[in-house]
Amino acid sequence: MNIRTISTKPFTDQKPGTSGLRKAVTVFQEPHYLENFVQSIFDSLEGYEGKTLVLGGDGRYYNRQAIQIILKMAAANGFGRVLVGRGGIMSTPAASCVIRKNQAFGGIILSASHNPGGPEGDFGIKYNVTNGGPAPEKVTEAIYARSQVIDAYKILEAPDLDLDDLGKFQLGSLAVEVIDSVEPYMQLMESLFDFDRIGELLSSAKFGMCMDSLHAVTGPYAHAILEQRLGAPAGTVLNGLPLEDFGGGHPDPNLVYAHDLVEILYGEKAPDFGAASDGDGDRNMILGRKFFVTPSDSLAVLTANAHLVPGYRQGLAGVARSMPTSGAVDRVAAKAGIDCYETPTGWKFFGNLLDAGKATLCGEESFGTGSNHVREKDGLWAILFWLNILAVRGESVEQILQSHWQSYGRNFYSRHDYEEVDAAPAKELMERLRKEAPDLKGKQFGNYQVEYSDDFSYTDPIDGSVSQKQGLRVGFSDGSRIVFRLSGTGTKGATLRVYLESYESDASKHNQDTQAALAPLIAIADEIAQIRTSTGREKPTVIT
Ligand code: G1P
Ligand code: ZN
Repeated sequence: MNIRTISTKPFTDQKPGTSGLRKAVTVFQEPHYLENFVQSIFDSLEGYEGKTLVLGGDGRYYNRQAIQIILKMAAANGFGRVLVGRGGIMSTPAASCVIRKNQAFGGIILSASHNPGGPEGDFGIKYNVTNGGPAPEKVTEAIYARSQVIDAYKILEAPDLDLDDLGKFQLGSLAVEVIDSVEPYMQLMESLFDFDRIGELLSSAKFGMCMDSLHAVTGPYAHAILEQRLGAPAGTVLNGLPLEDFGGGHPDPNLVYAHDLVEILYGEKAPDFGAASDGDGDRNMILGRKFFVTPSDSLAVLTANAHLVPGYRQGLAGVARSMPTSGAVDRVAAKAGIDCYETPTGWKFFGNLLDAGKATLCGEESFGTGSNHVREKDGLWAILFWLNILAVRGESVEQILQSHWQSYGRNFYSRHDYEEVDAAPAKELMERLRKEAPDLKGKQFGNYQVEYSDDFSYTDPIDGSVSQKQGLRVGFSDGSRIVFRLSGTGTKGATLRVYLESYESDASKHNQDTQAALAPLIAIADEIAQIRTSTGREKPTVIT
């Protein structure tokens, strides 16, 4: 077998965003596009020769082709072994688990997460480091820098491998093992949660659950764990067959895109518990009967109830949340006397805190929750955590939230997204806010007075690295807050995200409608940022 060196030219747009490089499938299909990026990853690593790489993806369109290319490039570049998911499939948290368990050098995950798939959809690629987590910024910056000067890549000339059955192959000097990632992932879950009690709950006639895998990667994991291992009735997992285009849907577990599940949980004879996960299995949405749990509240509830779960019974070192996530978990941490860290958006910022043992649970408002068991957020983990709490407490999801708010007060929270707006005016809006931020302090908007206003900057407490321009924050004297950010994962135009939060300690007001409770802040956000004028949009595309 021949190693070929192919000449190439840089693509100017290979800068990784919040979570790897994400582009339209058609962009990745351009000759050399994927190869350039993969070679840029390898060129920015040191000492991987002879070592193990983990490889898999969420099964979206182009996954199969990309896996074959990457295997041949890994062989040509001198990796010793690749552990590849059967059929090229591996969820993001399972990949993190496999990297850690096998002490692999790193991993490549092919996914555009919650973005739609198919020939007209999106594709993505991200590199994870030895701890199993997303490459930190210094690595992604090195990859980008390399991609801007690359002039050649190496690839082995070889026929494609059959990855649909477990087995071992030799590709030049590279050993390729097709593995079942469900098994190690299930073992890890079993080491954390009380499977006996969850099993009792799931097989009880009194309890009903519905899990929507949205035709994405969690299907096989959810079938194996919830139905086969824990005894939930067949049919508990909906849309459990991964499809290249996710059945034409948008594999994003929120109230808008997981509407089938929402209809079931808000319908007649609704089950007690509903959950969904995204394209690559790292997100989760939690629903009770006719009840939605915001991801920020979910993180707070998991933190407050962690002592009920075997894997966390010994206590939490601390918690961490992304800056736009609500302060609900801060209140739980304060009461428990543990540290709470505020990081920029993106899971990569939790890695150092988890590695250093400073945080045990982490979460983001964008339907992401996880812990130190892997270095990615983990959809099924969050669902099992909830099931463990429900099994022990014997209360409904709604009862658990109501009593949580009684103890800690309620952080009303919502995110308004303006998707695919023109990039130039969106950038201008952020620039304008950045300039005006310092002058907002002390300003009065109706009953709200601005207490602080800044562009969030983060200094990593472990390695001292600084990340600037992470979102415009406007905080008010009553604890309310508005945050403005541009998405770093969108692939078309720009997506403006407006995060709104207000705190209510009075229990008699806890059952208001969220949008109504936030109405004054929504109006202030428009006044401050001139959203409608700048974007030409009367209302957000997605409200979560
Ligand atoms: C979004 C979410 C962020 C999450 C990321 C990857 O990024 O907001 O919390 O970590 O997807 O799932 P954004 O598009 O806002 O940059
Ligand atoms: Zn995802």
